[in-house]
Order: sequence, then C-alpha cells, then structure tokens
Amino acid sequence: MSATISSIGIYHPEKEIRNSFFEAYLDTSDQWIRERTGIEKRFFSSDNEYTSDLCVKAVQALVKNHNTKISDIDFIIVATSTPDQIVPSVASQVQTRLNISGAGCMDISAACAGFVYGIIMAKGLIAAQTHRKILVIGAETLSKVTDFSDRNSCILFGDGAGAVIVEASPENHILNILTDTDGSYGKDLYLSHQAAPINGEIIIPDNKLHQNGRVVFKWAVSTLVTKIHELAKKNNMSLSDIDFLIPHSANIRILEAVCKELAIPIDKCIESIRNYGNTSAASIPIAWYSGIASGKIKNGDNLLLIGFGGGLTCAGICLKNNIVL
Ligand code: ACO
Repeated sequence: MSATISSIGIYHPEKEIRNSFFEAYLDTSDQWIRERTGIEKRFFSSDNEYTSDLCVKAVQALVKNHNTKISDIDFIIVATSTPDQIVPSVASQVQTRLNISGAGCMDISAACAGFVYGIIMAKGLIAAQTHRKILVIGAETLSKVTDFSDRNSCILFGDGAGAVIVEASPENHILNILTDTDGSYGKDLYLSHQAAPINGEIIIPDNKLHQNGRVVFKWAVSTLVTKIHELAKKNNMSLSDIDFLIPHSANIRILEAVCKELAIPIDKCIESIRNYGNTSAASIPIAWYSGIASGKIKNGDNLLLIGFGGGLTCAGICLKNNIVL
C-alpha cells in the first residue's frame, strides 16, 4: 500500500529567548552566536511544560490547519530525546490526552534523526497493510537538559514540536529511504541518566546534553554530502530534480557547507535554525511547515528530508510534498 502526508502542525512554547539572554551571564555575544550558528532566537518551555504538552499542541494545530479528524489514527510515533518519562512513552500520553482510542504507541530514540526515522517506520507499517493512518511527531524540551554553564552548547538548543499524519493513499508520495549509523561516535553526543559506559568509557550521569561540537560538525557535513547523493541516486533523481532539501537544522554553517559541496544554492535548503535554534527531532517538521507557510514549498514539490544526530545516526527520505496550508 502506498502512502502520503497531507497535514502538518507545529507548536513552540511562548517564552522567546534572544541571544542577549546568554550575553547577560556568559562570555559570549549575539554576533558570535549569529555568525557561528545562524541562531537569532529560540523558545524555552516553562517549568511545568513538558514534551507531551508540546506534542498535544502541535497535533491540535494540525487539526485546526486542515480541519481534519484524528479519532481514526491507528498508530502514534513520537521521536524525542527528552521524553517526559522513559516509561510511559510520550506517545501513550498523547493517545490518552487526545482520546485516540485503540492506537498503537511508541517513542523513537534517534536524536535529531528521529522524525525521519518516524516517517520511515510509518511508511513501513502502511506498506505492510497493518495500519492506515499514523501520527508522527518530533518534539523536544531540550532546555530541560541543557548545561547552561557550557557556552559551547547552551546557546544552540530550543524547544518545539511538529506533527504530521502519514496515511494510506492510492498515489505514492513517500519514496525511497536511507538509514546509516556509526555507533563508534557514541560519546561525541550523549545525554546520560545512569553510569553505564558509552563505547567502553564511563560517563558521569547528569541528565545534560554533551557534545563534541567540532567532531559532530565535521561528521555531519561529510555524511550529509555523501548520503544526499546516495539517496537521490536511490530515487533515480539528480540533485536538480530535488526542489528543496530539509536537513536537520543544527548549525547554519553545516547547511552552507553541505550546499557548497553539493553545488546547490543555499535557498534550496529550508531551515529552522534562525528562529528556533536546534530543536533536534522537531527541527525538520518545523522547517517544513515554515517553508510551506512562506509559500516557498508548493504542492507537488520534490523534497529530500535528512536528519542526523546522536548515535551518530542519519536517516533520509525523498517525498512529494502534498501538504497545502
Ligand atoms: N561564545 C563565544 N565563543 C565561543 C562560544 C560561545 N558561545 N562557544 C565556543 N566559543 C569559542 C571556543 O571556546 C573557541 O575558542 P578558542 O579558539 O579560544 O578555543 C572558539 O569559539 C571556536 O570554537 P569551536 O568549537 O571551533 O567553534 P565552532 O565554530 O565549531 O562552533 C558549535 C561550535 C556551534 C558547537 C559547532 O561546532 C557546531 O554547531 N557543531 C555541530 C553541532 C551539531 O550538529 N550537533 C548535532 C545535533 S545536536 C543533538 O543531537 C541534540
């Protein structure tokens, strides 16, 4: 059975954090943050606002945007690195709060690649004809796991959520996929809640996100360049057949370097880093929504979505945009 995606909704918390927030207590500057990352602002959840709250609001926005019903959804996938709890899953909290009875539920742990993994899982369930209408959400409250004393990382992250519905359809709009991981980089990006070793090394568990920024940056650029070529080839497309790239928004300089290597103009790349920071699993749906809302992405456009992050892992998918707002 073939599948399509024709609805989307996003949500960000109310609290807007500009770069001046960090200037006030850290040795950093608005200029450094803009020039080295592209970030102008991001949003932080309030103390009593959690990832499931953001998910519910993103789905409510989806319902409003498309005047659609969700009671017939038969599976819910939430991609997140910041679940409210490890058990129960965020997806099951979304199920009960939105009263979607009888749906299967699970969370995916694939960091910033999680949303694309979610679409890949949904495509597979629909192809297997076991499910027909699947809610896929990428959502994070990274501000709750940020080390605000680490200037290398704390300026990067933001909170947000994006939801889409993947459903069975006579026409196939979700094309070929790609997945890849190099677990030997595990310690270069981690969030630890217990003292289990990563790649044989003991970690001090502090429930904060740690990364080796330079290593991740270099890996991201070379992996994205190779995998975008590979994925286009798998879909019998050349890069010029792809109307827009939507990579995970981790740093504007990663996207600029990738576009330069691929010899494609940067305006072919849809990002969410400038206005939302790095929202990990939420960054791709937020960018996708923004691209449609601004009129850049049109119905029928060929999109290449590619996520990368902690693992280190990477997942990509080509699809025809079928979302109209
Ligand atoms: N303000 C001012 N100076 C800073 C700041 C800051 N906030 N942060 C670092 N610096 C300094 C460093 O101390 C260093 O100074 P030095 O030269 O005196 O030692 C200098 O700036 C350059 O440091 P770099 O680490 O080389 O800075 P870089 O240009 O690489 O930018 C960054 C750092 C933004 C972290 C970048 O490496 C990056 O974006 N990496 C990739 C992140 C990523 O993709 N993460 C994956 C997803 S995250 C997830 O999965 C949730």
